[in-house]
Amino acid sequence: MVRAAVPSDLVPAGPQPAAPRHVAIIMDGNGRWATSRSLPRTAGHERGVEALRRTVEAAGDLGIEYLTVFSFSTENWRRPASEVNMLFGLLKAYVQRDLARLKNEGVRIRVIGVRDGLPPDVAELVQKSEAETRENHKFNLTIAFNYGARDEILRAAQAYARDVKAGVRDEQITEAGFQEYLDTHGIPDPDLLIRTSGEFRISNFLLWQAAYSELLFFDVLWPDFGKAHLEEALRRYAERERRYGAVAPGAG
Ligand code: FPP
Repeated sequence: MVRAAVPSDLVPAGPQPAAPRHVAIIMDGNGRWATSRSLPRTAGHERGVEALRRTVEAAGDLGIEYLTVFSFSTENWRRPASEVNMLFGLLKAYVQRDLARLKNEGVRIRVIGVRDGLPPDVAELVQKSEAETRENHKFNLTIAFNYGARDEILRAAQAYARDVKAGVRDEQITEAGFQEYLDTHGIPDPDLLIRTSGEFRISNFLLWQAAYSELLFFDVLWPDFGKAHLEEALRRYAERERRYGAVAPGAG
């Protein structure tokens, strides 16, 4: 007997627009960019911040509403302490330098991932950037910092279980209900996930949220990424047909 599976309560039913609302990016290749120029890896990360600035601006210009970037993974702690500290410093410097401008431009900043373990001054600045931009809705910048998708899903499962035990939550677990426990609650799933540097991996980024994202891999190192690449990404996205497991209309 063939039994109908319970349909996902998160998958859209109708046709999808040609432009992505939400683009997520794995900004990869800073180290190789620097090494190929005989520069320290940290120089690649510095240029990576410039590419991030360009991309945030370009995304706003191109009508994208949500941009989520992978800046520091839970696995990046394996890097030398000097590089880890430098990445913390870059996040801090980015927020310090850009917060006022982003706030004035209507950008809402969110930082997803684990706060525990971040230096107190970085955690404080992250908190400030979120609080000061909470009422903004024009553009949404989400920075995944000290983030790992398996860790996020595990934390969500633990919180859900705690709420069921406390009687706050029904035992019936739905996709939409579970999603509220993820760091990304309130943010639509990414329509498009881009990775730079020619690697073909998701690397523990948005594993739940990217279930139906279109994937694009660019053979360009992150510090060289810019508006032209994002425009190309949107063109390639528009050529994709998103079926969410269904068949194309008119298919035999
Ligand atoms: C991957 O390149 C990049 C990272 C691990 C860090 C990404 C960080 C930035 C773009 C700048 C920081 C921005 C903020 C807001 C903190 P890689 O070092 O893995 O490069 P490789 O694969 O060539 O070694």
